[in-house]
Amino acid sequence: MSIARKRTIALLHGVNLDMLGDRDPEHYGVIKLGELESEVVAEARRYDMICHTFQTNHEGELVEKIHEYRKRVDGMLINPGAWTHYSYAIHDALELVVAPVMEVHLSDVAGRKEEWRRHSVISDVCDITISGKGVKGYFEAIRWLVARFKEQG
Ligand code: DQA
Repeated sequence: MSIARKRTIALLHGVNLDMLGDRDPEHYGVIKLGELESEVVAEARRYDMICHTFQTNHEGELVEKIHEYRKRVDGMLINPGAWTHYSYAIHDALELVVAPVMEVHLSDVAGRKEEWRRHSVISDVCDITISGKGVKGYFEAIRWLVARFKEQG
């Protein structure tokens, strides 16, 4: 008899996202990181998935966490914060992830006033990019992943 393994996903946040709640509400809303993580964990549970969460302000720590999870999870949701726009180290780490990678941003990065913010150096190694939808963007990423699992049977 085989025991079905629960699907597992990782929710990774990068630099300054621990400051949600204090950051500009116009772009990021008023939700705190802990609340956001709880909501995503609960949403994943609705689809019978386990969601591990992690946040760091140290780029190397995020790289190491991606390495740790790269063969262990069935999906990875990542919002690297400002590293999105210049971290080739995170790009190269994400390239090693076996499961689908979903890039999520709370704000509409493509429509922000700073030109540097409009470009992501990680998008080409992500399977989907969702931005400008706040917390709902994370739920959308989960739904996208579940649809992909169904496609694969
Ligand atoms: C962000 C957008 C980035 O430009 C910014 O540096 C962040 C958050 C977002 O979720 O909208 O820290 O990734």
